[in-house]
This record gives sequence, C-alpha cells and structure tokens, in this order.
Amino acid sequence: MKERIMSGVQPTGNLHLGRYFGAIQNWVKLQEEYECYFCVVNYHAITMPYKPDKLRQGSWDVIFNLLACGVKPEYLFIQSMVPEHTELGWILGAFTSYGYLSRMTQFKDKSKQAEATSKDAYISSALFTYPVLQAADILLYNAHKVPVGKDQEQHLELTRNVAQRFNQQTKSDYFNAPEALYTPFAKILSTADPTIKMSASKGDKHNIDVFAEPAKMKKQIMSAVTDSGNHDGESMSPGVENLFALLRATEAHDVHDSLLSDYKNKSLQYGHLKQEVASAVINFTQPLRERRETLLSNRKEVKNRIRTSGHDIRQKAIARLKEVKELAGL
Ligand code: TRP
Repeated sequence: MKERIMSGVQPTGNLHLGRYFGAIQNWVKLQEEYECYFCVVNYHAITMPYKPDKLRQGSWDVIFNLLACGVKPEYLFIQSMVPEHTELGWILGAFTSYGYLSRMTQFKDKSKQAEATSKDAYISSALFTYPVLQAADILLYNAHKVPVGKDQEQHLELTRNVAQRFNQQTKSDYFNAPEALYTPFAKILSTADPTIKMSASKGDKHNIDVFAEPAKMKKQIMSAVTDSGNHDGESMSPGVENLFALLRATEAHDVHDSLLSDYKNKSLQYGHLKQEVASAVINFTQPLRERRETLLSNRKEVKNRIRTSGHDIRQKAIARLKEVKELAGL
C-alpha cells in the first residue's frame, strides 16, 4: 500500500519560478511514490476579502497551471467539489481548543491584512477557524505526509493535536499523526530585489511567471540586480547567487559549471551570465507553456476531467466521513 500525501494550494496568484521550484516540481515527483490528494483550497480562500468571479476564475487557472506542470489529473481537485471537507471541519472544531487557535501566527498576520485591505476593516470568523478546515483537509484522507513550506509548521502541529484529541475522546485510533514533508529545494529570490523571496504578492517585477512570454522573461532576467562586479571570486552577492541557483534549478549544469569557474577567476561578465540564465529558463519552461496551450484549447474536456476526479475523490471522502461520524456519535 502506498502512503498518502495531501496538500493544498491557494487559488490566487500566478505560478512563478519560486513556487514552481519550491513546491510544484516536488509534487510532480512525489506522485511517483505516493497516493496524492492535491487540492485547490477555495473554501480557504473565502476567509479573506475576495470577489466571487475572480475566485472562480483563479481556481480553474490554478488547475490548468498545475496540469501543465505535470500534476496528474486523477490527483487534482477543487476543495468545494468535496463538501465533506467542511462537514469534517465542523466536527473537528469540537476537538480544537479555542486557546490553541488563538495562538496561530498566520491568523495574526492575515487578520491584519484583512483589516487593511477590506473597506470596512472586516475580519471573518472563518479566518480564525481556517486551521481547523486545513486539519480536515488532511485528516479526511488520513494523509501520512503533507508537503508544505516551513510557514505551515504550526498548522501541521495543530492538525496532529486535533487528531490526537479526537482519538482520545472517541477511544479510537482512527487518525494517524500527519508529518510535514520538507524537501530541500532551490530558494529562488526576486531578480528585482534579491534580498526577498520571489513572490506573487509583492508585485509583477518580483516574480517571473512560468507561463510568461519568453521575451518578457528575458527582459526580467536581463534587468536582474547583481552587484558592482568587485568580488574576491569566492563569496557571492545574493543577486549573482540567485542567477546561479536558476541555472542549477533549470538543470543547465554544464553552463553553470563553466560560468562558475569564470566567476572564480574573475572573468565573468554579468551580461553574459544573464543571457545564459534567460535561455536556460526559457528552454526549461518551454514544454510547460506548450502543454498549457494545449490544455487551454481543450478547456471543456479538461474541466470535465477534473470534475470526474472530484467526484471519484468525493466517494472516498464520503466513506471516511461516515466512519468519523459513527465514532463521534453522530
Ligand atoms: N494553509 C495552506 C497555505 O496557506 C494551504 C492549505 C490549505 C493546505 N489546506 C491545506 C496545505 C492542506 C497543506 C494541506 O499554503
């Protein structure tokens, strides 16, 4: 029996190189080894100020992007296709302590953000219970591992805590304790400001979209921030290091090694380095762009395929929820 993996992705923001190399590429690899549940978390998205049409569009955009990256359609669905997530979320709320939820740092950050971005400084109560729904996402499939970033550590710990309390209270051993799965990956920084991570929320110039026109990618990379060129051949400025990281991430290893030795003997021109990075990135992402175009020209079929996945995954969810309700006396 394969172990199960569950992860959620927000239906907002574009797919940039940082996200691709930081998460999605890893998901694609994990599919070979695990039974996977990859979910576009639209129920989570409504906890922040949002527009319904934009949410609907964003959810499908993410689906097309993930498929273009090689995520298998049978593992991919939109959270609201499986409403059992919310019913389990409600039940698990009874096994989550109020005090524990109050300590979640993501709530503290996001409630400030919600207050600042909505006209009426509105903070939804669903934002507060967001981690309970996340626990439900994971426990509904009794996942063993959850590939996430370090920022999700607290939510994973809460999930284990909820699972344990449910087991105790129902005198069962129903849920296992899911573990975060951190895999080493290239950290890609903003080319416009290599002191921060590449990010969708910081604005257009701080991320390079995987599906952008090659000409745009090239322009972004050619204007990458480096340094004055004075260096000792050993230590590297963050901007230059980031360009080398992109060569490694895009598997341009020969170019990487030859340019690195140029760097070490101080004969490297940054213009040349950028040119090489631009072509490495463009070549690497070309098949992804092509696959996305094909998917977009079969929009209806692709959507129906994902609806079928949602339906199939829901059958498993229904069966598990029935067992949970039985144990909970419902
Ligand atoms: N909270 C996660 C984030 O902000 C998204 C998420 C929702 C998630 N449900 C999940 C991640 C389940 C892993 C498993 O990125």
